[in-house]
Order: sequence, then C-alpha cells, then structure tokens
Amino acid sequence: MDQHKRQPYLDAMGIQSWRLRRSPAPGGGADAVDATTTTVSDPAADADPAIAALDWPELEATVRACTRCPLHEHRIQAVPGVGDHRADWLIIGEAPGADEDKQGEPFVGRAGKLLDQMLLAIGLQREQVYITNIVKCRPPGNRDPKPDEAGACRGYLKRQIELIQPKIILAVGRVAAHNLLNTDERVGALRGKRFEYADTGVPVVISYHPAYLLRSPAQKRKAWQDLLLARQVMNASH
Ligand code: URA
Repeated sequence: MDQHKRQPYLDAMGIQSWRLRRSPAPGGGADAVDATTTTVSDPAADADPAIAALDWPELEATVRACTRCPLHEHRIQAVPGVGDHRADWLIIGEAPGADEDKQGEPFVGRAGKLLDQMLLAIGLQREQVYITNIVKCRPPGNRDPKPDEAGACRGYLKRQIELIQPKIILAVGRVAAHNLLNTDERVGALRGKRFEYADTGVPVVISYHPAYLLRSPAQKRKAWQDLLLARQVMNASH
C-alpha cells in the first residue's frame, strides 16, 4: 500500500506523518528494532491431547461448550476466534470483554476498531487475518485471566495455531505476551524482537494492546513499528 492510501489509517491511529527512517535491522542504532530470534520453552506442554485431534468445527463447538474453568459460569457465550482459518497473520489478545461476550466475536469494541485500523494501515482487512484470545470467555469485570484459566484454554490456542499454521503471530498486550512466551517481562522489553512459538518455527512479535494504546496514544508510533517488524519477520519466514 502506498503512503497516500495508508495515511487515512495512520491518521485514525493518531500517527500524523510517520516515516520509517531506516529499515528495521538488528544493531542498526537507536531507532532500529532488534530482530534476533528467541525461542521459548513450550507454553502449551500441559495441553490436553484430546484437543490436539480436533478439526475446526469440533474445536469451535468444544470451545463454545467448554466448562473447564469457572469463567464459563459468567459468560454469555464463549468466543473462539474469527477470520481466515489459513491466515498468514494470527493476532492474539487477552480475553473477550463485554462487547465480545455479547457478540461472540473478538475485538469488536473500541480496542477492536483501533486494531482494525492498525491492520488496514499495513494493508490487511480483518477478514484476511485470524483473531483470537488467550482465554475464550470473558473474565468478570474484565479482570486479567488467572493462570489456571489461561492454562485451561491453552490447548485450544495450541490447536488453533497448528490448524492455521500462521506465518506470523502478533501478540498484543501483557497477558498475551506472558502466556505465549512463558515470561513475565514487560511488553516494552519484549517488543522489537522476534520470538518463536514453542519450537514450532512460527515467529512471534509482541506489541502493545490496542486498549492500552487508546489510553496512551503516544505509544502508537511504537505499535506501528511493531507492525512493520511483524511484516518484515513474516516476509523473511518463508
Ligand atoms: N481485548 C482483548 O484482548 N480481546 C478482545 O477480544 C477484546 C478486547
């Protein structure tokens, strides 16, 4: 997409006229991103083997009927994910919020609208990617998912990743980053790097959560850099 067409989406993200001064490259100076690869131990090692055999229809039905953790008691519905089942891009957030719980689709509220704008800025329609969350049911009061709740959902996400075989995973926000990479580092320290999901060869790039960007618009430039890094990593991965 040329700069002219991209600008309206950058404007919507709050980025007035941003230019990449140089290509992101390891060791390229203060603005350059560190694109070194870090492989982490398998965060899905304890996943239920029964889930590993499921294809899309059974997987989605199993998620919708899931009672593996207490989050099912408060939900209107589970939110498995949305988008292209063979997408190059897999976007992973934290958990459904109130809007998502009502509509059964991830990232449909204000944060979702910003995510859509961010994707459009790199030429991606929402329908071209797959979007899901670490946990598939809304935590009450939008609190963070607890470790055992994320653990109960881990096998579903692992199976989604196996089925999609994405070329890039973009994990947005602390909860997604910590659960995918099995770390408790700050997002600010994790972004700008290339990770790998559980020895699968699928690259992972970390960025800020769109809800955080709505509260902290000054960070949108960094999120834009993260998108460019994700695209660069994706293009280099095949
Ligand atoms: N925030 C998330 O992390 N996921 C959603 O689906 C919506 C808001």
